[in-house]
Amino acid sequence: MKIKAVVFDAYGTLFDVYSIQVMADELYPGKGVEIALKWRDKQIEYTRLITLSDPHSASGSQYFRPFWELTRLSLEYTLDRLGLDRASGKVEMLMRQYEHLRPFPENLAVLQTIKGLGLTTAILSNGSADMLDSAVNSAGMAGALDHVISVDPIRLYKTAPESYALVQKTIPVNKDEVLFVSSNAWDALGATWFGFTTHWVNRQRLPFEALTPHPHYSGEDLHSVLDSLGVGMSNTRHVVVA
Ligand code: LAC
Repeated sequence: MKIKAVVFDAYGTLFDVYSIQVMADELYPGKGVEIALKWRDKQIEYTRLITLSDPHSASGSQYFRPFWELTRLSLEYTLDRLGLDRASGKVEMLMRQYEHLRPFPENLAVLQTIKGLGLTTAILSNGSADMLDSAVNSAGMAGALDHVISVDPIRLYKTAPESYALVQKTIPVNKDEVLFVSSNAWDALGATWFGFTTHWVNRQRLPFEALTPHPHYSGEDLHSVLDSLGVGMSNTRHVVVA
């Protein structure tokens, strides 16, 4: 494998979007898990709705709203849908927590190892530039990432091909020289369709989507990416699924 750049999805892959369920549960006892799941699903649904509804105008979708705004709107919808109050600054508290999501524990060391191999490291995310900066800085990852690429400038969300194409606009590589890493199966599939070499981080041991092709590699945490690069010593199950 002649990988030159390793490009990571952000939310769900480097940063644990479900870590907010602890605070959600404190604010809304017994509802934390449901809030976290519905919030995430609605957030992604809005990105797809926007990009699908107007994918071809020259300056991106006219319906585009930055991911930070979609994150807030999807939280508000989720609370309304569950019949929960939005009073006492609860939305603000959850949004502040989202700005500083907990990274998965092994991620920083894995990023540093990859960078130490001389490979280019980057994020490609639906996230707005500001929210990505906050998350990256809070996690102490800035020094381990060469590029943080947001879809913001093109106003189209993943899995539009134009979003994955941003990688090659930033890093001079061929598609198959990119190892694209995501915990989101839909994102791993979109990136595989686009032509990247792909690695699905399957933390929850889920079956892959019923659609094909499957990603080239898969493992249970970020250590497994090192296995895909041929330098790993992880004890996690490593499966070539393609
Ligand atoms: C990202 C989200 C959608 O692009 O996972 O970071």
